[in-house]
Amino acid sequence: MNQIIRPLPIRPEPPVSRAEHERLNGHRSLVLWFTGLSGSGKSTLIHTLEQRLHAAGKHTCSLDGDNIRHGLCGDLGFSCQDRSENIRRVGEVSQLMLNAGLIVLCGLISPFRADRNRVRELMPAGDFLEIYCQCSLETCEQRDVKGLYRLARNGLVPEFTGISSPYEPPESPDMVLDTENESVEACLQKLMALLDGRI
Ligand code: ADX
Repeated sequence: MNQIIRPLPIRPEPPVSRAEHERLNGHRSLVLWFTGLSGSGKSTLIHTLEQRLHAAGKHTCSLDGDNIRHGLCGDLGFSCQDRSENIRRVGEVSQLMLNAGLIVLCGLISPFRADRNRVRELMPAGDFLEIYCQCSLETCEQRDVKGLYRLARNGLVPEFTGISSPYEPPESPDMVLDTENESVEACLQKLMALLDGRI
């Protein structure tokens, strides 16, 4: 029987380099990866940070779990394997956007350390910053913006992060934001300071 060969194409050099994109944009590109429980404030921070960066003339893109799961990852659920695949895909897209000269703001629960580390390894050192939105389960549950914690407590949403599925906090994040006690504005100031000199 003939063996079937499926050769991977050779990865082509991009016609326009990252450095050329950055030069045109007038700033460096970067990936900011926000991780934390559902309701910990990731989306709020990403949206306000993106508006602020846009107003300052920076080229950005935000990849928010709630959005991505309607399209690119619409076929995935919340098993450990599906979450890993979700993170892998968003990581790959982030890397493409990094090379296209953008400041990429990703907000996903991304509960597993190994998955987040795998994304970090896709990028040159220093170009991936992990931001931990630290907020207790009690507070996230109290906020229950989407009403999902209540449903999960009643057994209606299986494998819910923090309740019936684990969350592994980062061991050495690039920044910890105390989204339980600090205001959005205070967190934004810290983020802008982190970006200072990097973009
Ligand atoms: S991740 O774990 O794969 O990173 P992601 O950030 O994309 O998750 O999506 C999380 C969002 O999906 C939550 O904010 C919530 O609105 C919704 N969601 C639905 N089911 C679950 C679940 N079982 N666990 C966590 N979030 C869920």
